[in-house]
Amino acid sequence: MIKLFVNIDHVATVREARKTYEPDPLEAAIIAEKAGAYGITAHLREDRRHVQDNDIRRLKDQITTPLNLEMAAVDEMVEIAIATKPFQVSIVPENRQEITTEGGLNIMEQEDHLIEVGYQLKERDILFSLFIDPDAHQVKAANRVKADSIELNTGPYSESSSIDANAQHLAQLRKAAVQAHELGLRVFAGHGLTIGNVPAIIHNVPWIEELNIGHHIVSRSIYVGIDQSVRDMINCIQGKII
Ligand code: PXP
Repeated sequence: MIKLFVNIDHVATVREARKTYEPDPLEAAIIAEKAGAYGITAHLREDRRHVQDNDIRRLKDQITTPLNLEMAAVDEMVEIAIATKPFQVSIVPENRQEITTEGGLNIMEQEDHLIEVGYQLKERDILFSLFIDPDAHQVKAANRVKADSIELNTGPYSESSSIDANAQHLAQLRKAAVQAHELGLRVFAGHGLTIGNVPAIIHNVPWIEELNIGHHIVSRSIYVGIDQSVRDMINCIQGKII
């Protein structure tokens, strides 16, 4: 069964809109866990626009499920990861102007650096995952830098509006997932996923172990509550009609 990691960044986005104490991403994470989330994902951005350092510490100390820390491959973040020791680190590219992560890593541009980052993480038993576009060169490079897993960027799939583009993105995701699996990499996916577009991923892309989903779950929680929103997504992943 595919595991759901709930990304709580946008609970912090609402809090940071007022620079206050509510809503608390930790409280949301605990409700998400009780609703059946397999793990919690949080992205500590260099600009600290939503999740803060203290959120990461509190999440690590108080959640009971695995913590997946998303971060850029920069020294400051590697130090935080080593100090916090999350279950998993997902390396993402970061651009200060972007609204959200815009694409996958270009691993080939920084292979030596990623090998070093991966070494430091894996030495401490932290799983080393790389967020990449479904591209054969990136998959091969992820294997060369000894990643444990790749997270396939489903952003372009999620944003595609025509049936043809949708089918093309699904085919690319499928190909990359098969290639990664054959190389021994574990396969995760995420970005822009919703109750509407997850079923096609489940039916068309093999080998996915984990989905990282945030914005849609947090958005729906405004209407139905975080508990129900997480339960609905789990039911969707399990192929039950919502
Ligand atoms: N995976 C990665 C690498 C991300 O950067 C994000 C967004 O923080 C997600 C998954 C979750 O994306 P969304 O919030 O669109 O569900």
